[in-house]
Amino acid sequence: MDKKFKRTLVTCALPYANGPVHIGHLAGVYVPADIYVRYLRMRGEDVLYVCGSDEHGVPITIKARQQGCTPQDIVDQYHKIIKDSFSGLGINFDIYGRTSSEVHGKNASEFFRKLYDEGKFITKESEQYYDPEAKTFLADRYIVGTCPKCGAEGAYGDQCEKCGSTLSPEELINPKSKLSGAEPVKKKTSHWYLPLDQYEKWLSEWILDGHKEWRSNVYGQCKSWIDGGLQPRAVSRDLDWGVPVPVEGAEGKVLYVWFDAPIGYISNTQELLPQSWEKWWKSGDTKLVHFIGKDNIVFHCIVFPSMLKAYGDGYILPDNVPANEFLNLEGDKISTSKNWAVWAHEYIKDFPGKEDVMRYVLTANAPETKDNDFSWKDFQARNNSELVAIFGNFVNRAIVLTHKYFAGKVPTCGELQDIDREALGEIPALRASLEKNIEGYHFREALKDAMSIARVGNKYISDTEPWKVAKTDIERTGTILNVCLQICADLAIAFEPFTPFAAERLRNMLGVSIFAGYDHRSGEQETVNTYKSGEGLAIHTVPAPCDASSAASACEASSAISTESGAGTEKSLLNWSRLGDTDLLPAGHQLNQAELLFAKIEDEAINAQLARLEAIKAEREAAAKAEAAKTVTPQKEECTFEDFQKMDIRTATVLEAERVPKTDKLLKLSIDTGIDKRTIVSGIAEFYTPEEMVGKQICILANLAPRKIRGIESKGMILMARQNDGKMRFITPAEVLCNGAEIG
Ligand code: MF3
Ligand code: ZN
Repeated sequence: MDKKFKRTLVTCALPYANGPVHIGHLAGVYVPADIYVRYLRMRGEDVLYVCGSDEHGVPITIKARQQGCTPQDIVDQYHKIIKDSFSGLGINFDIYGRTSSEVHGKNASEFFRKLYDEGKFITKESEQYYDPEAKTFLADRYIVGTCPKCGAEGAYGDQCEKCGSTLSPEELINPKSKLSGAEPVKKKTSHWYLPLDQYEKWLSEWILDGHKEWRSNVYGQCKSWIDGGLQPRAVSRDLDWGVPVPVEGAEGKVLYVWFDAPIGYISNTQELLPQSWEKWWKSGDTKLVHFIGKDNIVFHCIVFPSMLKAYGDGYILPDNVPANEFLNLEGDKISTSKNWAVWAHEYIKDFPGKEDVMRYVLTANAPETKDNDFSWKDFQARNNSELVAIFGNFVNRAIVLTHKYFAGKVPTCGELQDIDREALGEIPALRASLEKNIEGYHFREALKDAMSIARVGNKYISDTEPWKVAKTDIERTGTILNVCLQICADLAIAFEPFTPFAAERLRNMLGVSIFAGYDHRSGEQETVNTYKSGEGLAIHTVPAPCDASSAASACEASSAISTESGAGTEKSLLNWSRLGDTDLLPAGHQLNQAELLFAKIEDEAINAQLARLEAIKAEREAAAKAEAAKTVTPQKEECTFEDFQKMDIRTATVLEAERVPKTDKLLKLSIDTGIDKRTIVSGIAEFYTPEEMVGKQICILANLAPRKIRGIESKGMILMARQNDGKMRFITPAEVLCNGAEIG
């Protein structure tokens, strides 16, 4: 780590507790953050890893209304689902808090109050939409209407989901209240604003001059916001769910969710470390890194830093904000409201024991520089042809052969040949690249480096063919397997950040433990170390790294642990700094039996997921059609009674019906009109079979000028009603009448 820092505070965007998290969230924020944290911890860095639920905001209140419960019920439900999803995927924050907590309410309130007292806000009176029926102001998402940019219906007061434009409620065409459906009226209200314009110069220096190393998507967004000129931003809303504005005369007003939520990072830190939290937020030697999705960039790079700057009091600013772009699913935008997603909690249920596979695939496809796509076929292919065929296959061959020829004991390494030296020689360069990539937030590339180590191993064992050599030269076989096993141990270290469950299974097979770093889950007691033995997570109390958290001190600490705690006795203790060493496993060290590192994923499992998505798509299309059917075409131009009277409309009965050959749409109908028997050719074959028509009483326009259709003379027209989705039905009298009855 950069010399100027002694510790790293990693935050992940607080997910809204109005729905479960999906693979887009995981790929964009949580998996990369987890890789980063696990990596730093293995290097002995002091890291605090903070997240929690974002439990305010309008979508939560809307959901509560829809479900007839309170917003608190909603957030209680989703907080648990989300929290369990993260831990199920091995994403273990030091604290996963909530913004509805008491600590946070007090903290956010105090934060506002200080800025208010110091005159850091401006107040503005404005006209806002108000629902006269529900008697309440309508914040952002409570208003829907037609998008002024793309014409889509159902655009929200702050954003059109169809075209992605940011909107303000005033721009919507035909705005409607989402609460009552009423047409909203404008009403005066006053709010507090953070005058971002006053921070423009400072932001420009800090970001545009000072952080050119930020990802280009992040830097670019900041630049366009700043260059576009910043406007004061409202920090309060007229709502009854949120942190009340702590000022007299502010009844019915709460803090805007984007004002309170980022303060949640601080509140959650305080909740975990009530005495020492300030060291994480207020000392210049803490490196703050925000992991977020691209829709959060402005809030984390512009708004929140301006809030902290306004607050003063030594708050640090982020050193980096590695924001990802979006992940699509099977070519379509992931959407919670359309249920177009792979939900984390469902994945965990559907693919038990395959948590790593999702972590792996999402990292391999991470939308780091551009939007990217997740597809189930790719998921299957990456599992079967990368994790199973390369990583798993190599490890399995190495361990099974060691059992076969050496009773599971690491064989002695004899004299190395060129091929051995070449294989082993590749590891240090891959390690260096991996480190550089993770530290530069290039997790896709870092994963490729780790996978390259597995490729080196797999190629080495295929080229050296120890199973053949064993027939003639057991000593050489031992050397080859020794080399293979050292590479297996490298993999047990290198994959810990990416696929922690598999890495642990591998260490179990190898009979080794690992120094996985310090964490702060138990709060102030700063003597906690997570130390993974082959038997799972063992927590040993050891002296904390204090402030001297360099990789070197971590190594010292870790060797101290192995002797002091006595855990992992006879077991080798691996740590990151030994990655690439050629003596990770001493000769004679006993391995455990091989177990499956990764299992093949069969077509059935993938097809079941694809079928689920198909069903969702079909449902959505049907709903869209039904919706379209509801709308009616506008009334035609006026006609006179005389115009109408010219038309001879009568009842008639279908006597015979047959398809017109070589057409899809036409039926030839023989009709009893009461006046005569005649032929009408009608384009209704799309909607009725000939059998369905025979015997039906219908209405016809009898005096339509005859026309030849496909060589058949058609005299008249069958009256049909056409819905807006294209569906057509013939018109029949409410009870059977005589044929030829005049209609009019
Ligand atoms: N809930 C927001 C989202 O999902 C993220 C909030 S991040 C925080 O987009 F900083 F405000 F907490
Ligand atoms: Zn639009």
